[in-house]
Amino acid sequence: MMMLGIWMAFVYSSIFTWAEGTPPNVHALDDGLALTPPMGWYPWNIFGQEPQNEKLIKEIVDALVASGMREAGYSYVGPDEGICFLRASDGKLTTNLERYPSGLRGLGDYIHKRGLKYALYTDAGTHTCSKAMPGTKGHEFEDMRRFADWRCDYVKIDWCHTEGQDVVKAYTLLHDAQHAAGRPIVHSLCSWGEGSPWKWAAAVGHLWRTTEDICGPGLADWESAMKIAFANETLFEWAGPGHWNDPDMMIVGMPGLSEAQNRSFFSLWCMMASPLMAGNDLRDMSKSTIQILTNREAIGVNQDPLGIQGHVIRREGQVSIWAGKRLFDGSQAVLVFNQQSSPADVRVPWSDIGMDDTAGLYARDLWTHETTGPHAGAISVTVPPNDVAMLRISKSKDFPLPPIIIADTYLVSLRAIGVAAQTLSAAVTIMNQGSAELPSWKVQEGLPGWLSVTVAGNGKSQTLTNKIFTAGLKKGYYHAIVRIDNTEPVSGRPMSAIYYDVDLEVPNDVGGGSN
Ligand code: GLA
Repeated sequence: MMMLGIWMAFVYSSIFTWAEGTPPNVHALDDGLALTPPMGWYPWNIFGQEPQNEKLIKEIVDALVASGMREAGYSYVGPDEGICFLRASDGKLTTNLERYPSGLRGLGDYIHKRGLKYALYTDAGTHTCSKAMPGTKGHEFEDMRRFADWRCDYVKIDWCHTEGQDVVKAYTLLHDAQHAAGRPIVHSLCSWGEGSPWKWAAAVGHLWRTTEDICGPGLADWESAMKIAFANETLFEWAGPGHWNDPDMMIVGMPGLSEAQNRSFFSLWCMMASPLMAGNDLRDMSKSTIQILTNREAIGVNQDPLGIQGHVIRREGQVSIWAGKRLFDGSQAVLVFNQQSSPADVRVPWSDIGMDDTAGLYARDLWTHETTGPHAGAISVTVPPNDVAMLRISKSKDFPLPPIIIADTYLVSLRAIGVAAQTLSAAVTIMNQGSAELPSWKVQEGLPGWLSVTVAGNGKSQTLTNKIFTAGLKKGYYHAIVRIDNTEPVSGRPMSAIYYDVDLEVPNDVGGGSN
């Protein structure tokens, strides 16, 4: 109780300080979540509400894995506003079983078993936007407990039907409710910039929408996307590890956009360290869309451990130069964005990106995957119409990728047999797609007595062996959440904590005895 009190006091004093207008440089929450921008998929941009059901979400999950997007780092996936839950007469949320016959917990298990994380959606007001689902107002604690029961890892909380509610108080209450529910959940605030969440929301959440919706369902809108990008970039000082400006889900791969627009959009979102939530139909993607969404070199800029948001440093007519994004290895990311209908010739002197004008530096083109140089004092690029040049500039010829972590599963599920004590075992494999050899993952202390976790393997692939000792356990269901942590070795920065669930079913009382 005492600890909780101290912690709460810290959160509230943080809100108070940040509300005065000083950009925060630390995240107030100790959950280790989203230390790089979250990556995943949400249905709203392409589908809207109506077709969302269990079959669709499972097909998308399978497509996400089959397309290679999981290997590229995308992990959070689940329904947005669609009729997935209802409020029963006792006030509790229940799954809409007509649309989600396995239940929302069943959908979560499906997602976790495939090495992905589970995202859900709700609202801070009385209802979700279309009034299709109940909002959390007045039910904050029980709803967040329900989301935790469903094993949700990420919740987007909308701001519709909130007349008379105070935005800071409402999202703070929801944060407290999530915390009380005891499951680490990424909190995605969706007040569309209302209440300037960048000034206070780092204390209660991990990301916040900065603008209105990027498009209506199924209708990619390039003008609106560009308006959003240029509004979001001005907020760069407020973003950092664990607390991100969110310019909305991506429109890459939606009908009506050219390949150059898709590439430009993706580059902008990577440069701005924006959450990379894909919004297209993953079951029906062109080769070019897959290549853009899974470009590891661009993703490496987005997932950089320093978590700096790049921004516009120079704009000449319809040509903008984006920089200010130092990366973990000392290199700098640079984006030249040409919105003209003719090619643009642009020279970027090293002093523009905080580097020594007299130096000879190497340039890596993150779309052609070619390294050139050394270039003395500057680089000149010709950018085609509506396209980008996305570069990394470095003293070194090597352009290492930061860690991109994937797991083969986030759910260990075991069942004891008989009444004699047993030792059961199951593995979770954690792979690093980045260049560096990672140290050993550290397992957080405090696991229940029936579970032990050991780590083996190398910097690229480590296996967590989960050993379960059933001696003396009573008939019942047991559950634990395992947290593991690591440090990115080049920058020394902490990496996002990884959590997974361990379930044990004990069908009979088990005798004592040695394992
Ligand atoms: C709001 C949000 C969108 C989407 C819809 C659902 O408009 O900003 O991202 O979730 O609600 O109705």
